[in-house]
Amino acid sequence: MKTDVLPIDNPIRMHAAVQKAVALLDQGAVIALPTETVYGLAADAMNTDAVKSIYAIKGRPATNPLIVHVAGRSMLAGCVPSWPEVAERFLRAFWPGPLTLVLPKAAGISSQITAGLDSVALRWPLHPFMQRVIETLGRPVAAPSANLANQLSPTSAAQVLAQLKGRIPLIVDGGSASVGIESTVLDLCGEYPVVLRPGMIHLESLRAVDPNTTPRQATQGDGPGASAEAACKSPGLHQKHYAPSAPMRVIRWNASESLARFPARFHANAHKTCVLCHEHLPDPACFLRVSVIPSDPEAYARALYAELYACDRLHPELILVESVPDTHPWDGIRDRLYRASSA
Ligand code: TXA
Ligand code: MG
Repeated sequence: MKTDVLPIDNPIRMHAAVQKAVALLDQGAVIALPTETVYGLAADAMNTDAVKSIYAIKGRPATNPLIVHVAGRSMLAGCVPSWPEVAERFLRAFWPGPLTLVLPKAAGISSQITAGLDSVALRWPLHPFMQRVIETLGRPVAAPSANLANQLSPTSAAQVLAQLKGRIPLIVDGGSASVGIESTVLDLCGEYPVVLRPGMIHLESLRAVDPNTTPRQATQGDGPGASAEAACKSPGLHQKHYAPSAPMRVIRWNASESLARFPARFHANAHKTCVLCHEHLPDPACFLRVSVIPSDPEAYARALYAELYACDRLHPELILVESVPDTHPWDGIRDRLYRASSA
């Protein structure tokens, strides 16, 4: 299959790309579209065969449900029987934007999307192109991140192309994603709001809306020790996720230390090691590549996956990442680093 890449860098191209994307979605095709978090692998949420194709293209296990993207409240109303007052407060505070709300699903949402669960994950994206596609299609769009299962989420069209060339007919190139990591997933089906996946809308901001909001227990659904029940409640939150192909380690070092000694501890050669740092810069001459990422969480998130992709392309023996602060604004980033390094 030939994969077209369409830019949207002026209003005429934007209009043409909306028309093309909507026509393909309407025919049941699966295509890659930009969102503000990461690129999505999109299909018409009301077309069961198209939704099934998403799983086949990604190699995604059927047990991992998809996020349904809406544009506006009337579309939300078609996806859930009703929404509680707490959901209203969250959506007023953060929609459109990088927050996904898990709510009991309406009968019209297929079990293909929800992997058989009674709940559905919903997001109203902020990206203007994605909004126009959903509005023009007039139906919600199901979309996981546009990567092959267990690989890094793409934040640029080139990263999508590298993974999905020949598997989909269209990639819409909206430039670099402005948020850079996947949305915060908040479960509103229980007694309290529970953060299933941390993201750039972090616990402090969520607690300003509902002080009862709690983080997911660290062991739920994560690797060894996870109960089957916990894994079901938080499907797709397995530990081995969001990973580059090279082994990765997150460590703390300080300026006076010779970081060049570290790779040997992990059976790697320093000259075949990539380093991602934000505070303590090692001597670049010792390593295959040293990336300096800005040390504020928003800028860090925006840069992270592009840097990991760039490292991966060099086929390093090891990627060493300087640990990030232990504060809530960094929760989403710490989560992704932890998952990538435990793969
Ligand atoms: O930012 C994002 O969320 C991106 C863009 C494309 O919107 N999408 C994304 O989708 O990251 P995906 O499929 O890679 O991650 C969706 C997450 C998974 O962890 C999945 O398990 C969870 O949402 N999820 C989906 N439906 C759920 C449900 N009913 N209950 C609990 N978790 C659910
Ligand atoms: Mg994903």
